[in-house]
Amino acid sequence: MRETISMDKGWKFHLGDFTEPRNRWAWGKSGSWNQGPESFGFDDSAWREVSVPHDFVIEGEPQPYMVKEFDDKDNAIPEMQSVNNMHTTAGSLVKNVGWYRKRFYIPEEDKGKKLVFIFDGVYRDSSIFVNNFFVQKHLSGYTGIHCDITDFVNYGGDNVISVRADARGAEGWFYEGGGIYRHTYLLKTAPAHIEHVFVACEVDPYQLSARIKVKTELDNGQSARIRLVTEIINPDGDSVGAMETELSGECAEQEVLLSGVSLWDLDNPHMYKAVCRAYSGDELTDEYTTGFGIREIKFTGDEGFFLNGKSVKIKGVCAHQNHGGLGTALPDEIYTFRIRKLKEMGCNAYRTSHYPPTPELLDVCDRLGMLVMDETRLLSSAKEDLAQLEFMVKRDRNHPSVIMYSIGNEEAQSQTTPQGARIAGTMMELIRKLDPTRPVTMGLLMWDLANKRPIEDISDIAGISEQLDIAGFNYQDHRWQEYHERYLEQPMICTEQGTFKSTRGCYTTEAEKGHLAVTDKTESSYMKGARQWRAAKPPYMSGLFLWTGFDYYGEPSPYAWPATSSQFGIMDLCGYPKDFYYYYKAWWTDEEVLHVFPHWDGQPGELKDVHVFANFDEVELAVNGRSLCIKKMETDDYLEWEQVAYEPGELRARGYRDGVLLKETVISTTGSPYRVVLSLDFAENQIAVIKAEVQDDQGRRVPDAGNELSFMLEGEVELLGTSNGDPSDHTLAHSRVRRAFNGLAQAIVRFSGRVVVTVQSDGLEGNELFIE
Ligand code: GAL
Repeated sequence: MRETISMDKGWKFHLGDFTEPRNRWAWGKSGSWNQGPESFGFDDSAWREVSVPHDFVIEGEPQPYMVKEFDDKDNAIPEMQSVNNMHTTAGSLVKNVGWYRKRFYIPEEDKGKKLVFIFDGVYRDSSIFVNNFFVQKHLSGYTGIHCDITDFVNYGGDNVISVRADARGAEGWFYEGGGIYRHTYLLKTAPAHIEHVFVACEVDPYQLSARIKVKTELDNGQSARIRLVTEIINPDGDSVGAMETELSGECAEQEVLLSGVSLWDLDNPHMYKAVCRAYSGDELTDEYTTGFGIREIKFTGDEGFFLNGKSVKIKGVCAHQNHGGLGTALPDEIYTFRIRKLKEMGCNAYRTSHYPPTPELLDVCDRLGMLVMDETRLLSSAKEDLAQLEFMVKRDRNHPSVIMYSIGNEEAQSQTTPQGARIAGTMMELIRKLDPTRPVTMGLLMWDLANKRPIEDISDIAGISEQLDIAGFNYQDHRWQEYHERYLEQPMICTEQGTFKSTRGCYTTEAEKGHLAVTDKTESSYMKGARQWRAAKPPYMSGLFLWTGFDYYGEPSPYAWPATSSQFGIMDLCGYPKDFYYYYKAWWTDEEVLHVFPHWDGQPGELKDVHVFANFDEVELAVNGRSLCIKKMETDDYLEWEQVAYEPGELRARGYRDGVLLKETVISTTGSPYRVVLSLDFAENQIAVIKAEVQDDQGRRVPDAGNELSFMLEGEVELLGTSNGDPSDHTLAHSRVRRAFNGLAQAIVRFSGRVVVTVQSDGLEGNELFIE
């Protein structure tokens, strides 16, 4: 029977490579890598103990740009301003080699089973050894590694797996982390076992019926006679269908018709399960379970996207897989935290820019009802890259959340060339073979890199774009209509849009600090963001993905050092909303939104522009009880009151619909920092996200507070990271002392039982938070 054992705990870790001759790892004889950290007997007692997911790059201290390795502003694509210096773009953190070792026991009874050590992701260029044997090398930092270790283990004894991860190379132009940053497992199966299960559904969303087609691939080299029984379990846990097949080959196709099905959709993401059991005679030899959802997706050239027959505008974001204080080593729960934050904003789609995500992200999207554009790293039909694409599709094709694949992003070198067209064709062919149920797109850029100019004639990209099931555009909203008129039948999506930059809570630009005011109209302004959303409204446009949902490490823009992280996020590195979050929330949800900024302080008489994001048809603004005026709000718009004279007190906004006052928002001049207050922003399983807020003596957040906060932990609790959303904060990611930034900081902990988190800050009243 199949057994999947988590291998996440009990790793030993060493930062840096082993270069002394004694430790060279090339002796050229089977099982002879026995001199260094890859050997069974190596003394790792001085190494640090870690559990994975683990990112060793984020543990370092940011360093200013020192090495001029690639500085090519002239060749940079306008949309990728920051791709001219690989150190800065990767987050100004020093990349390195890291070694991991783990001891594990394999009992005598496992003889005869197939043993596979699984890494969901190691960044990157990993070499894997077991008991002095070299087992596997894997380049990609974004696809999983399945190492067959059956021949190399000691049965009835101890074993050591060693992993060398070389994070010095780059696969992208963003922060990529380093090390074993996703989960690890030991999988034990019978020699004849199930390898892959693909569940495809032909759905009639009106009749609530579905034909479920299950394709099972087996590793059955010995042509054993197998009876395969597949059972379908509905969201309530009831068995609603079963199929049985006898085979001695490697593939079985089964199908069953279900009626009265519960559809997977954004509000009710019902999940089914297919449980495939393999029997040899009467003996159950393997059981493989996969989740799936029953839903119909359709993209059209004139009316965009339909889910279960209903038109759905894709309101998406792009996101990188990192979070403040954690780097790329995200506990699964943090994905839940982030996807929930996006859903609260009204976002319904997530682009895994620009690589296959961690599998748990897709589980979360399935569970919470979030559509996914699943992207492979590179537009390439090289063997290595096709293998990455194949891995991604085979791994992800049962997730109902995944509604399309992307074969690349802004490949300005090749998108206008015949080579590019052939590569795309080969990739499309592979996807269609592995998963004919989902359309394919790509982020096309209207930029001709060879000639360093915008693409003037849209047919220059036709070689690739005409082959895509959905033409994907990064930016260039003024070209969409033209493309649509040329290719009326072809569905379209905006694969990337936005790059609206701002620093949370900053209303004055201070370039030397790396801070950009949300109200700054020179660099980029939120007005541009609003225009972009309006541009995506014509029905032929399936929707858009904004760059980005959250700030991420690397790609600091528009200012580099001291800034080390990006500022494109609608939320900051911690997931704290920036002002522009409320623009989307206003127009993407049905909730009443009335958000006013900047904060209300300054010199008496100083003139300030006041901005409002809201979804009321009229908004009134009043200073200390005196109404300034009522303004009308158009759909998808925002309001501004220019040159309002500041006076201490309160600024009050009132939201009216049809003349009825429905909501009031007050922002007031706060006092100085008085206390720091902890609250639980999110907790699930053993992970808690703690919010620290600096308040005045009346409990109001002090909007520019930057007090240094010290977190103390009591009980079985481990600090995973702290951060504050300041793109220029250089405090170590795992530090328990963190400055607040514009009134806020965040600590993420893993806990068990009842624990206490305390915060202290010089001159402020501290606070305690109990978590159970
Ligand atoms: C885009 C690119 C993104 C990011 C962004 C920054 O062109 O696809 O990955 O680099 O620019 O503006």
